[in-house]
Amino acid sequence: MIHFRKIRWKNLLSTGNTFSEVDLSATRNTLIVGANGSGKSTILDALTFSLFGKPFRKISKSMLINSVNEKDTVVEIDFTIGNKEYHIIRGIKPNKFEIHCNGKMMDQNAKAVDQQKNLEQNILKMNFKSFTQIVVLGSSTFVPFMRLPSVQRREIIEDILDIQVFSIMNQRLKDRVKDNSNEIKDLDYDMHLLTEKIELQKKYMFELEKKNKEEIDRKREKITDAEQEELETNGEIQRLVDNVQSLNEELEDYSKSVDKLDKLNTILIKLNQKLQTCKKEHKFFEDNHVCPTCTQDLSDEFRHGMLESGQSKLDEMYGGYEELTTTIDTEKKRHDKFVELSKKVTESNAAISQANYRLVTIRKTVNDIHSEVLELEGSNPDKKAEFVKLESLVAEKKDLKQSTIECKKDRDVLSAAIALLKDSGIKTRIIKTYLPTMNKLINQYLQSMDFYVNFTLDENFDETIKSRYRDVFTYESFSEGEKARIDIALLLTWRSVAKLKNSVDTNLLILDEIFDSSLDQSGASDLGWILRNFDDNTNVFVISHKEQLNDKFDRTINVSKDKNYSTIEETVHELTHALVG
Ligand SMILES: Nc1ncnc2c1ncn2[C@@H]1O[C@H](COP(=O)(O)OP(=O)(O)OP(=O)(O)O)[C@@H](O)[C@H]1O
Ligand SMILES: [Mg+2]
Repeated sequence: MIHFRKIRWKNLLSTGNTFSEVDLSATRNTLIVGANGSGKSTILDALTFSLFGKPFRKISKSMLINSVNEKDTVVEIDFTIGNKEYHIIRGIKPNKFEIHCNGKMMDQNAKAVDQQKNLEQNILKMNFKSFTQIVVLGSSTFVPFMRLPSVQRREIIEDILDIQVFSIMNQRLKDRVKDNSNEIKDLDYDMHLLTEKIELQKKYMFELEKKNKEEIDRKREKITDAEQEELETNGEIQRLVDNVQSLNEELEDYSKSVDKLDKLNTILIKLNQKLQTCKKEHKFFEDNHVCPTCTQDLSDEFRHGMLESGQSKLDEMYGGYEELTTTIDTEKKRHDKFVELSKKVTESNAAISQANYRLVTIRKTVNDIHSEVLELEGSNPDKKAEFVKLESLVAEKKDLKQSTIECKKDRDVLSAAIALLKDSGIKTRIIKTYLPTMNKLINQYLQSMDFYVNFTLDENFDETIKSRYRDVFTYESFSEGEKARIDIALLLTWRSVAKLKNSVDTNLLILDEIFDSSLDQSGASDLGWILRNFDDNTNVFVISHKEQLNDKFDRTINVSKDKNYSTIEETVHELTHALVG
């Protein structure tokens, strides 16, 4: 419960540079009287200005400053909530806004708007609108509940029932829904991108695989070709080896031809020598008839015998010579054949060497290509890197999917919460719970003021007013006095409900000129009822021109204007006997 203790103000409207101070809880009821324009309603502006930073009436902040002094407008208010004592100071020219709690100034670093928000939401737990509906019933620019549009009626009721928290939650929830839907949109977009990336990666890997396979096939083909060449070379080597073998075998036959030829030539030389000697001898016997040595005559017989035997020897030798040269010729041919065969063997052996060298080269090529194939088949680093890339993309997609699922789960929870928090949800259920009580209270208060109508507010805060004699009324169709009774009934209802709900509960009730013009004699006498119907915790202030009401109150505050400045004077009455009747 907010217990207002004291308010004081200076340089506010017609109040001058001296503080006007009112103890708000000194007596159960107080009459504030004074002539028109003396400064009675100023207390309402001081009150709302101190609590909400704006006057009760529609006056601009600058117009609140006393026009004579033009500066130093200060309003201070003291109230307690539980064991906390608050003291708020507001000033214009210079601007000032201080909240003190138990003697310590709060939050001076915070922005004024935030400080005000904190004051309304966490300390007072009501805003200007609810305060004016619960604490003040005014005659001037005050807009009675019944003249408020339904949106504002809803705000007030939500404040009174302390369920505006659902509206705040709903607002926050709307922000979260927006964030959530943006998040889902972003996630969907990311998912789309990632799916495309994965497809591209797969395609790229497929192309890579295809290229790889083609490369492997090409290399395998090369291996097959090389192996075929190897096979052919091996065959060629075999053929050459066989050839060399048969050549060698053939050579065997001719291997002795060199020796034989040598020997034959030696024989030929010797034969030639012998032949020359024989020829010389023959020539001697042809040319000589005397022996040169012994100078004896050579007989013809002897000469002829020598010539004959010499000739046959020569013939024999010629025959032998001819035979020998023929043999040598044959042997020479055989030697040529040997040389030719040897050359062939050498050539074949060279061809075998070449083929063997080719075999080594082919083997090396096959092995090299084979390793390349193995590399391409398994341990290709490019392929591995691309696979790792694909794996990480797939993992990312999985995470993204999980986030999307969670986000969508959040969305479901949020939409369920939104459904609960919207006006037709929890709030309507709570309001529906309280509506019968509200309606009952309104009708009770109306009856207490001898106003017999059936007043019903529905969940949209539209009223239906029925009378015993007439059917349906609108608020506007009632007289000013009747409207005032409805306004009082509603004000008292809101106070009761707020108290019941323990949301907004205060000791202060100010009725500004309610009983002066609109209420007739019987209405004014209802004032007694009103004042009687409050407990010790309520301090009622009645602003009026009617000084004669004086005796009905515990205290009177006289407001008057002296030299353009409003001053107040307080009288506390000994007895409140008048109220008891
Ligand atoms: N800025 C200002 N400086 C000085 N006086 C001002 C300023 N603004 C308004 N006033 C005067 O202050 C007085 C305001 O008085 P207030 O409205 O509180 O009177 P009231 O006693 O409630 O009168 P009523 O009985 O007619 O309702 C008026 O006389 C008004 O002309
Ligand atoms: Mg007034």
